[in-house]
Amino acid sequence: MRMVALTDRKWAIGKGGDLLVRIPKDHQLFLQETLGCHVVMGRKTFESLPGKQPLYGRINVVLSKDPSFSPKGVMICRSMEEVLKRLADVPRDRICVIGGESIYRQFLPYCSTADITAVDYVYDGDRFFPDLDRDPEWKLAAESEEETYFDLAFTFRQYKRIAGGKKHMQQIS
Ligand SMILES: NC(=O)c1ccc[n+]([C@@H]2O[C@H](COP(=O)([O-])OP(=O)(O)OC[C@H]3O[C@@H](n4cnc5c(N)ncnc54)[C@H](OP(=O)(O)O)[C@@H]3O)[C@@H](O)[C@H]2O)c1
Repeated sequence: MRMVALTDRKWAIGKGGDLLVRIPKDHQLFLQETLGCHVVMGRKTFESLPGKQPLYGRINVVLSKDPSFSPKGVMICRSMEEVLKRLADVPRDRICVIGGESIYRQFLPYCSTADITAVDYVYDGDRFFPDLDRDPEWKLAAESEEETYFDLAFTFRQYKRIAGGKKHMQQIS
């Protein structure tokens, strides 16, 4: 499974329930990386999508324990185990974990790739991605040339898990 996120220099991803910044080229890449995939997200991230509508062209898998949360057009899962079970037959590289913090942290052990848009700036964030630079199980495998959006500099980074994930979907299903 892959994680996809935009982070700042300190791995912040959001503030007050919203993204830190919107960068058109990051959005384009997010589309390319996720179209046709199962995208796994938390209820708060789902509710932050424009119009609280599912992302088109993708199967939206949303985690929530709230029985009253039942939007149309999404696959609702009540636990991480339910996600792993229901997606057991989906090729792993077609499953993208797209946030927010609680979901990245829970799914990290199941993921082998993280596609990070790394913004060279420090925001006053209140939600964070796990720091993969300090995690001995992960390494920076590739990084693009630096790009800019107005005065913001950013790169596209790919992190890879060094050894196989601790847990595997097959073991769960
Ligand atoms: N920069 C990026 O790339 C990026 C991407 C995505 C999101 N974000 C940001 O991240 C922030 C949101 O992150 P967050 O951690 O606050 O919220 P979140 O992970 O999006 O959603 C949390 C909610 O998901 C549900 N949930 C989590 N684990 C569950 C489990 N094991 N079983 C069932 N339900 C579960 C719960 O919903 P219930 O309360 O309904 O039970 C929980 O309150 C926002 O600021 C957003 O903009 C940034």
